[in-house]
Amino acid sequence: MEIDMRYLTVALTKGRLAKKTMELFERAGIFCEEMKDSDSRKLIFVNEEHGLRFFLAKGPDVPTYVEYGAADIGVVGKDTILEEGRRMYEVLDLGFGKCRMCVCGPESAREYLQHQELIRVATKYPNIARDYFYNRKHQTVEIIKLNGSIELAPIVGLSEVIVDIVETGSTLRENGLTVLEEVCPLSARMVVNQVSMKMEQERIGKIIGDLKAALKEAQEK
Ligand code: PRP
Repeated sequence: MEIDMRYLTVALTKGRLAKKTMELFERAGIFCEEMKDSDSRKLIFVNEEHGLRFFLAKGPDVPTYVEYGAADIGVVGKDTILEEGRRMYEVLDLGFGKCRMCVCGPESAREYLQHQELIRVATKYPNIARDYFYNRKHQTVEIIKLNGSIELAPIVGLSEVIVDIVETGSTLRENGLTVLEEVCPLSARMVVNQVSMKMEQERIGKIIGDLKAALKEAQEK
């Protein structure tokens, strides 16, 4: 790291996404051994060679760190980007964490969607659900915010449908629910603070380029 270089800070989404992200950084020649110690309670990890600092945060907090510039770069799911609506640049689709945002429910709920009925929609993503029903479908609904296990809602009668992430579809299947409509495809994205993008164009541009090359290499294998 050159003397006058400042650390670039990268916010990662804790869990599976962070692991996948570090694997990709490694393929691009950027290593962070410190982070692999799963017993450690450390929150922030340094790569001296590249002048990088990585930290782990909850998904919905990643766009917050990036918008305020506390992190220059972030890696987070498209679902969270859409839901949080923060000002930042989305620069790269990392191709992993692929899944879909869907309207789901029992087959019997399909007619409520067709007839634009005033139904209840349970979701962890109220902004995405509101945008979908109000702006795309022009259907008035009641949005009910939940924090997890969303599939329960139509089963116990809290809502007619849900807006949730579907990956393999097994959670739906095992609970007698089905995909009724698709809202949008999702995957992990790299995001960049708008000021950092200008001030550190060269370094951030190189990281994006190196990651793109690593992604392409993996595709060609
Ligand atoms: C997510 C999502 C679905 C499930 C979809 O939940 O909300 O419930 O995964 O995956 P599948 O299609 O492969 O079954 P997550 O496990 O993140 O927990 P949550 O219920 O707390 O949202």
